[in-house]
Amino acid sequence: MKSATWLRIASCVALALAVIVSGISVVGTSRALARENQKSIYAILNEAPEKAKTSQNPFAGVPEAVAAGGKLFEQHCAECHGKKAGGTMRGANLLSDEMQQAAPGTIFWVLTNGVVRRGMPVWSKLPEPQRWQIVTFLQSLRPGGAVSSTGK
Ligand code: HEC
Repeated sequence: MKSATWLRIASCVALALAVIVSGISVVGTSRALARENQKSIYAILNEAPEKAKTSQNPFAGVPEAVAAGGKLFEQHCAECHGKKAGGTMRGANLLSDEMQQAAPGTIFWVLTNGVVRRGMPVWSKLPEPQRWQIVTFLQSLRPGGAVSSTGK
């Protein structure tokens, strides 16, 4: 009788330890993953070829393009990047310093090519002007960028 009680206590303790240990390793893994994500996010913006980086946005600063881009963003991008582009579990924060410093051509290049291995779809099927409108919208979110009419 007594030893059975001890056995029960011991197995409870073992279970609790197992839960704690696995909890710690889950936290550790997700931290490592977050770090890994950060790294690759910088890498993607740096991967754009020089020629793509310097291509000019035909809609730069055009308010209508900001509005149109905002609608397109909501349709196609918000589910992963959040309505305000602040990011979700599924997609990167697009208000980061790296994004704010990125050339319009770089963002266009990311859209055109996607980051398929990490879950960012290719948007080359979206007509070029629409891709540039989205770029214009994203750049309007920068401090000092054109005021967005769809900042929601
Ligand atoms: C299915 C989810 C999903 C959708 C939809 C999506 N993205 Fe992404 N996007 C991602 C993921 C995941 C990443 C991160 C890739 C990585 O690890 O660097 C990403 C990365 C990006 C980046 C690079 C960010 C950076 O800081 O390097 C940009 C720019 C971007 N997305 C813009 C868009 C735009 C604009 C749209 C809509 C046309 C869109 N995305 C739609 C998932 C998505």
